[in-house]
Amino acid sequence: LREHEEFTKVKNIATIELGRYEIETWYFSPFPPEYNDCSKLFFCEFCLNFMKRKEQLQRHMRKCDLKHPPGDEIYRSGTLSMFEVDGKKNKVYGQNLCYLAKLFLDHKTLYYDVDLFLFYVLCECDDRGCHMVGYFSKEKHSEESYNLACILTLPPYQRKGYGKFLIAFSYELSKKEGKVGTPERPLSDLGMLSYRGYWTRVLLDILKKHKGNISIKELSDMTAIKAEDILSTLQGLELIQYRKGQHVICADPKVLDRHLKAAGRGGLDVDVSKLIWTPYK
Ligand code: ACO
Ligand code: ZN
Repeated sequence: LREHEEFTKVKNIATIELGRYEIETWYFSPFPPEYNDCSKLFFCEFCLNFMKRKEQLQRHMRKCDLKHPPGDEIYRSGTLSMFEVDGKKNKVYGQNLCYLAKLFLDHKTLYYDVDLFLFYVLCECDDRGCHMVGYFSKEKHSEESYNLACILTLPPYQRKGYGKFLIAFSYELSKKEGKVGTPERPLSDLGMLSYRGYWTRVLLDILKKHKGNISIKELSDMTAIKAEDILSTLQGLELIQYRKGQHVICADPKVLDRHLKAAGRGGLDVDVSKLIWTPYK
């Protein structure tokens, strides 16, 4: 999937240092012009300020008193915590996060208008602090029922289930809002794979347990997944028939079992009882 790289704008920043990781970047990100001449940037892993030289970062770390993202901790389970950061209250943090994220997001335009977004930053916590593993952003008010704008798992943490955790989290927030949601388009290849995986797992689990007929509308009410996304997922799984002008779910138990076996087991679940959150007003 990395062959994308050849087709995109020339990368400026080749590597970043963030916490205990040195990470190779994937794409161009429009850092301010004074950073044009450097190929490596040093990030404070807590406030996400970035610097040109290691010594600057070391000096910064002695006086930076953040040990976790700014904002409210809205979820904690074991060593995993989620922080909600309001882009309006923490503008610089929001902008820094966007610059960082763009290094791994190809097709997204960078929003400078961070005021309009909430950032959900997932951390692994230990005695040194809460270390960001990934995040998603969400518009405070979306006309198109988007419940997620951008999603990223930092490369050292990818393929461990954090992406699906973030996706699941975005739907839990939608459930609390009493709304259906869908991710902003376009999705990257990796984004599509992760969403397909999540939708497939959630829908198969319900269909497996459910006795009798069930409609797409009912599935949507239960999961906060938008009807179109349910339809396309079930079509992909060949669980939809078109009868008398209507899409009907045909959940043949044998077909379900075959798909369930093929679907990977997502390890990290969101424990809703540990989510303390009220919708943004
Ligand atoms: N190759 C093949 N399949 C992959 C890969 C890969 N490199 N990475 C993820 N997948 C698929 C797998 O099906 C995986 O499920 P499985 O492990 O059960 O088979 C599924 O995606 C999700 O895996 P997770 O471990 O839960 O996801 P991860 O933490 O790696 O995060 C994400 C996924 C966020 C898309 C990550 O790849 C990423 O940050 N990519 C760069 C940024 C990006 O493209 N974001 C999405 C843009 S679209 C948008 O923002 C709306
Ligand atoms: Zn700092």
